[in-house]
Amino acid sequence: MTAAEDLLIHVDDIRAGYVPGVDILQGCSLELAPGELVGIIGPNGAGKSTLLKALFGLISISEGSVNFRDEDITGMTAHELVSRGIGYVPQTQNVFPSLSISENLEMGVYLKPKMFKPRLDFVCEMFPRLAERLNQRAGSLSGGERQMLAMGRALMSEPQVLLLDEPSAGLSPVLQDQVFVRTKQINATGVAVVMVEQNAARCLQICDRGYVLDQGRNAYTDSGRNLLSDPKVIELYLGTLAKKG
Ligand SMILES: Nc1ncnc2c1ncn2[C@@H]1O[C@H](COP(=O)(O)OP(=O)(O)OP(=O)(O)O)[C@@H](O)[C@H]1O
Ligand SMILES: [Mg+2]
Repeated sequence: MTAAEDLLIHVDDIRAGYVPGVDILQGCSLELAPGELVGIIGPNGAGKSTLLKALFGLISISEGSVNFRDEDITGMTAHELVSRGIGYVPQTQNVFPSLSISENLEMGVYLKPKMFKPRLDFVCEMFPRLAERLNQRAGSLSGGERQMLAMGRALMSEPQVLLLDEPSAGLSPVLQDQVFVRTKQINATGVAVVMVEQNAARCLQICDRGYVLDQGRNAYTDSGRNLLSDPKVIELYLGTLAKKG
């Protein structure tokens, strides 16, 4: 276990929701060490997206705290967090359909326009398919290409942490696999990743550690490998997918 002062992100027992007095997260905690890939799984409505939104300053946290490196970032706005090195890819509506790929990527680096060229090179190397279509409108991309663009846009600001909300949702099995491979590759460049996933078994296979959320609370936390073989986690959250191995 990493000592608290060495963590990149430390979410400590937060309560948060969309309406005052109605907490969706009812005491959620999460730790992310530098360079780590952490997965979050759990049933629909468990609060997985809500946790990422709270982390990224999109909803207010009523109790508990979020620390990034040694700073308390609880209550900071999304753009303050981007400038500190956090990138976020929402579950839906994560590209600007009327803008081109290149313009979408430019939006990802609006705080530091001088970084555009070097970051564009990085993103194009990671996603060659985007490089071939820089002037194409994002609205005309396939689901898989759109997801690559959303991830690429978040990478433009050179984040130390990338928060991904269900990047493989709605994609064919082959494209889902590509998302997991790319996420691993991005992580291998030193970017720590928090990944929420509906493809729970695949997510636990690639992550260093996993969290199972249920009804706004942490249900299980362990290495991806241990969660994958935990009979209770299999029975309650993985079902037949995991049994197939
Ligand atoms: N904008 C919103 N306003 C009010 N309630 C919301 C809003 N978004 C989500 N909720 C509620 O918060 C709870 C948790 O939703 P959340 O989207 O975090 O779940 P999730 O674990 O990401 O589920 P899924 O796997 O379906 O994406 C749900 O009961 C949902 O109805
Ligand atoms: Mg969700």
